[in-house]
Amino acid sequence: MPSELALVVLAAGKGTRLKSRRAKVLHQAGGLPLLAHVLRALKPLRSAGAWVVVGHQAEEVRGLAESLGARAVLQRPQLGTGHAVATAFKALPRRVTRVLVLPGDAPLIRTEALRALLRTHANAGAAATLLTAELDDPSGYGRIVRGSSTLVDAIVEQAALQPDQLGLREVNASIYCFERAAVAPLLGRLGRKNVHREYYLTDVISLLRRDGHAVAAYKVSSPEEVLGVNTLAELARVDAIFRRRKAEALMASGVTLYQPETQAIDPDVSIGPDTIVEAGVELRGRTRIGRRCHIGAHSILLNARLADGVTVRSHSLVLNSRLGPSVSVGPFAHLRDGADIRKGARIGNYVEVKKSVVGEGTKAQHLTYLGDTTVGRGTNIGAGTITCNYDGVNKNPTRIGDNVFIGSGTELVAPVKVGSGAYVAAGSTVTDNVPAGALALARGRQVTKPGWARTRRQKLAAAKARKEEPRVAVRTGNSPKAKPAAKLERKAKPRRKTKSARPKRRPR
Ligand code: UD1
Ligand code: CA
Repeated sequence: MPSELALVVLAAGKGTRLKSRRAKVLHQAGGLPLLAHVLRALKPLRSAGAWVVVGHQAEEVRGLAESLGARAVLQRPQLGTGHAVATAFKALPRRVTRVLVLPGDAPLIRTEALRALLRTHANAGAAATLLTAELDDPSGYGRIVRGSSTLVDAIVEQAALQPDQLGLREVNASIYCFERAAVAPLLGRLGRKNVHREYYLTDVISLLRRDGHAVAAYKVSSPEEVLGVNTLAELARVDAIFRRRKAEALMASGVTLYQPETQAIDPDVSIGPDTIVEAGVELRGRTRIGRRCHIGAHSILLNARLADGVTVRSHSLVLNSRLGPSVSVGPFAHLRDGADIRKGARIGNYVEVKKSVVGEGTKAQHLTYLGDTTVGRGTNIGAGTITCNYDGVNKNPTRIGDNVFIGSGTELVAPVKVGSGAYVAAGSTVTDNVPAGALALARGRQVTKPGWARTRRQKLAAAKARKEEPRVAVRTGNSPKAKPAAKLERKAKPRRKTKSARPKRRPR
């Protein structure tokens, strides 16, 4: 009968050393929760399924596990790694004969290493096979005590190391392949005589040896794969390794990255060749970027879709939005909630686009807000145009046709439509639909008074001269006590009611 493999991930612990209220396996590194990385590495393995031992924040961890196709087993209370495995064993179907156990807090492990461990185990015919690594700094990890070159005698936790064991650098990754029949009876025999008063899974190894079973080991060639996360400093270190791995894969596929150590690119991001990504860029979620794109420094893209030849200038945000071929956005643009920018369109600096379609070749180059708006092709949206889409209760749509000219400083009070080919004069507040081909002019007429400014200045100067004659004490120049002429004038003179254009005095 072929052996049937079950996968067990230990994820019930609190992660006390993280000093966080959130369960450790929910903390993120490399763009995903730690547990998600482990389950991803397990996915390609043929097995009877994955079981995640949950306990601390059980519901959240269960939710994540189940969303990734695993089952959850509740361990309550959490009495140590040995107790966690005993709990999982009870939940496994009878047909399972072999169990691969992994910690939920060591997210860098790769499928290849796990396959090699399973092969070593099968070839050795051992009751248990451990995954180990040689670390320059093994502190914090259980150490491997070898009986011979191939067999393991025991795992000794850091706190229990004897003086002659301090030099051991081979560590226990907490990844084990167990023969269920040999290990299950021993789980009930574990004691709690250790500093944490916990049931240690590591003690199973010496119990197996005592019963005459063979325990083999597979040592990984890249030790970073076994790194666990017990502190926030280790979380940052693991995150950096994920970032480096992703950057190396992208560069190998023809993507140019400037200062990749300053970038954060999530594992599911794809980028076409000949694209350049500048420093400090974050590419999050399921962002997909085509070929020959250029992503400017410090831009953030989340679940963005970019066709080929797109330019995103520096400091732009593109969130859950789509950019067609040869589109250009930014610098300092903010596209969000389903902005759909079609081929060749240009979205310039300080422009925000929310839930809007911007048609082919259309331009909105400066200081604009387009919300709940559909704009056709070849339209020009002048600087400072604002769609007033929110009336305090509802969001209302704005529709702008093809080849429209919207003058600068226009407010479009939605719901409103501007037909194709229409012109809207600069500074208009458009409240009514504008038919195709029309001109809409919706602003106050200008009043011009020739010579008014000069007359006013002369009056002010004369008044100031009158005030200054008797009072010599007032200082002038850059002295902080000097007072502006207009202020002096107002202070001295009782206020008259006139029709003059003098600005109102500010309240104090
Ligand atoms: C463990 C190993 C150590 C190994 C290291 C590798 C033991 C006693 N020690 O130490 O030899 O070098 O991992 O990273 O096993 N968990 C539960 N239920 C519990 C306790 C823990 O599910 O009752 C889970 C935790 O959530 C965690 C994993 O088991 O994901 C490991 O527990 P942790 O406390 O981090 O063990 P270490 O001290 O790192
Ligand atoms: Ca750990």
